[in-house]
Amino acid sequence: MSIEIDILNGDAAWPMAQPLLSAVWGRDAAQKPSWSHVKWAHADLRVLLETPEDGLVCHVGIYFRTVTWNGQKVHIGGIGGVCTREDRRGRGYATIAIDAAVHTMRANEAVRFALLFCEPHNYAFYAARSWLPFKGEVYCEQPEGWIRFDAMAPYVFNIVRAPTLGTIDLCGLPW
Ligand SMILES: CC(C)(COP(=O)(O)OP(=O)(O)OC[C@H]1O[C@@H](n2cnc3c(N)ncnc32)[C@H](O)[C@@H]1OP(=O)(O)O)[C@@H](O)C(=O)NCCC(=O)NCCS
Repeated sequence: MSIEIDILNGDAAWPMAQPLLSAVWGRDAAQKPSWSHVKWAHADLRVLLETPEDGLVCHVGIYFRTVTWNGQKVHIGGIGGVCTREDRRGRGYATIAIDAAVHTMRANEAVRFALLFCEPHNYAFYAARSWLPFKGEVYCEQPEGWIRFDAMAPYVFNIVRAPTLGTIDLCGLPW
């Protein structure tokens, strides 16, 4: 099995990623989940995992942001838009793509920890990959103003060291 992994500029790679994201979330989004109203940030980079037979099978968006944790500025990495084509799941693709995203964050010496937001059905998936629940509060910007973000649960990952308590202000849109 050969797999090609590209990490591309987020905006430039959007036309490639968009059909997969729509296929995975189009149907769920129609069921109006708790996050359907959220305005999301655009990914800075995108991990695209392709196979010769199937083309694009998995996507992970990468975000870089200077946030505050308990009022102190800290540079972090984020992942979002993690998805694998429905008929190609369980082959390790998302694990590989998330690893590539974390590797990319580690290459940026300023990044202290990684952060993602997920729904309850994915808690076990991330916990099994060493992500820890962040038990503090998260705030972010939305068109209506500065809000507490509780549409999804935050999970953190140690790059240098990740906090699991306290208050994070994303200082921008969530991902
Ligand atoms: C979650 C998702 C990205 C996993 O993709 P994938 O390519 O199948 O993942 P992998 O093959 O790397 O890992 C699958 C493994 O995780 C497990 N797994 C998959 N989804 C899981 C979940 N929701 N909870 C717990 N375990 C899960 C599988 O049983 C398998 O376990 P194994 O490694 O012990 O065999 C995929 O199911 C998906 O696209 N879901 C819909 C979109 C979504 O919810 N994305 C996450 C947004 S935060």
